[in-house]
Amino acid sequence: RAVLSREKDLQGCRILVTAGPTVEAIDPVRVITNPSSGKMGYALARAAVERGAEVTLVSGPVSLPPVEGIELIRIESTNDLLEAVSHRFSDTDVLIAAAAPSDFRPAERLSNKWKKQNGIPEIKFIPNPDVLATMGQQKTNQILIGFAAETEGNPEEARRKLEQKRLDMLVHNNILLPGVGFQSDTNEVTLYHAHGQVETLPKASKNEIAQIILDRVAALWHARKE
Ligand code: CTP
Ligand code: CA
Repeated sequence: RAVLSREKDLQGCRILVTAGPTVEAIDPVRVITNPSSGKMGYALARAAVERGAEVTLVSGPVSLPPVEGIELIRIESTNDLLEAVSHRFSDTDVLIAAAAPSDFRPAERLSNKWKKQNGIPEIKFIPNPDVLATMGQQKTNQILIGFAAETEGNPEEARRKLEQKRLDMLVHNNILLPGVGFQSDTNEVTLYHAHGQVETLPKASKNEIAQIILDRVAALWHARKE
């Protein structure tokens, strides 16, 4: 089947996509964030709506144009992400967690700017909720797709995340390889399926990778509907 003529195989499927970084405030002028560009998540949202899905995109701050024909919810912190996702989860068929949420946040947000004359601040961090693992615990019939940007390609770690978060599929990439992850327009990923299959995909544009991920999503969703 030609890539550019996939039919509306996701008609009626309610897909919630998370994308981009999160931002955790230290004080009114300083934040903790990461270099996620949102490109993979936005490519997924765009491809899903083209294939007939009802798409909600929960996005951290990114500099990408909004996707037409979808609901866009903007968030900043990992707690905001959890709130937005939990609110819609019961009306979702597929959650695709492409966001890069911060695992930690400063224990307190200073209400005034930290001044140099106070010396170097000692920032205490506390854990953020794991949005995807929380949804994994709460899922009824939802399909869950996770992402893992790693600095090594460790299959055991991929399997651990797949099981711990109760995912149907984990999209794994090694961001230290050239043309992979974060700001890049291309990606090179390995798909780990819950039932044990592993698919290594050739390096391709994020748009093409999005289509392949949605092929797998469509197959899972159609199987579940029967
Ligand atoms: N994720 C999430 N909430 C978090 C952290 C991660 O929902 N607080 C999701 C990501 O969107 C991604 C998946 O979990 O789909 C895996 O993220 P990753 O950072 O690779 O895994 P962690 O469990 O956070 O483990 P670590 O960062 O220690 O590798
Ligand atoms: Ca993490």
